[in-house]
Amino acid sequence: MILAIETSCDDTCAAVVTDDGEIRSNVISSQGIHDAYGGVVPELAARAHAERCDLVVADALRTAGITLDDVTRVAVTRGPGLVGALLVGLQTAKAIAVGRGLPLIAVDHLEGHLLACTLQPVSFEPPFVALVASGGHTFLSRVDDAGTIEELGGTLDDAAGEAIDKGARLLGLPYPGGPALERLAADGDPTAFAFPTGAKVQGLDCSFSGLKTSLLYKVRDLGDEEASARRADLAASYQRAVVETLAVRVERALRATGLRRLAVGGGVAANGPLRERLRALDAEVAIPDRSLCTDNAAMIAAVARHRPALAEADVAGLEAYATGQRRTAAAR
Ligand SMILES: Nc1ncnc2c1ncn2[C@@H]1O[C@H](COP(=O)(O)OP(=O)(O)OP(=O)(O)O)[C@@H](O)[C@H]1O
Ligand SMILES: [Mg+2]
Repeated sequence: MILAIETSCDDTCAAVVTDDGEIRSNVISSQGIHDAYGGVVPELAARAHAERCDLVVADALRTAGITLDDVTRVAVTRGPGLVGALLVGLQTAKAIAVGRGLPLIAVDHLEGHLLACTLQPVSFEPPFVALVASGGHTFLSRVDDAGTIEELGGTLDDAAGEAIDKGARLLGLPYPGGPALERLAADGDPTAFAFPTGAKVQGLDCSFSGLKTSLLYKVRDLGDEEASARRADLAASYQRAVVETLAVRVERALRATGLRRLAVGGGVAANGPLRERLRALDAEVAIPDRSLCTDNAAMIAAVARHRPALAEADVAGLEAYATGQRRTAAAR
């Protein structure tokens, strides 16, 4: 039985997952204290994790109907993320592992998003092409098995979630923008405005900065009154451009690899129109339940199933790594 802990951003998460990937509990405590600031405040996030991490772990054990005596391995997110936030999870996991003499597995958060689809009941196993589209990252990988992950393409600037959050803010929506933008877009016409998707740019990389700027200019050109009256159309057209940008690259990656299997993860994969668009592709498509797309600890356990535990001597010195440091030696 794996106990997993995830505190990389603003959700305090703990989960209990069996060795064959069945989720027994997946507790997510969203801090909800950052909305007033329009984004996550790192210091506040770390403090809130410190206040609630033990409670969330206890809740995960209770919900799973087990005690620490039943846990055989502890898994924890090491990065990338906010270092102060990550350290809270790391310290909690280390304390449990050392105190109980249990193996500790350090997990990369992005591999968590990438392998979330391998958890039951979906149990979608490699080989597959994987799209991860989250708040801080967007990339396509070829996954031949859980240990062989090759990056095929990424974003040249913003992540898809970042583009959505910034677009949402321009339309006066609260943070995080994704769910609010999706709700507003539901009443709009996705073909009302033609925003760029970079479909003519070859390759598997994508870019969102032009899209964001074109929304900014469109809102300015329309003027306050008209932009406000057409908010739903703007939201729907903008959302459609993000979806198309991603879908075009996914189609290319499937063609380039010859794989007809696609796994999708990361917070943006919670988006209804994106799920619909990707599910309509000529491929076997696995998109986990929305609660497994945004940050959670069950996905960290999903990776831990396939990773060795740290040597005992390395546990005390285990450190976090920040967003942007993913490709350093520490990450792999
Ligand atoms: N329904 C939705 N539609 C579109 N975007 C969404 C939806 N729900 C959440 N998102 C977006 O997902 C992002 C959060 O995803 P996630 O929690 O995976 O990111 P993160 O953990 O902050 O970043 P990373 O995983 O890259 O470190 C936010 O940008 C949010 O707006
Ligand atoms: Mg994430």
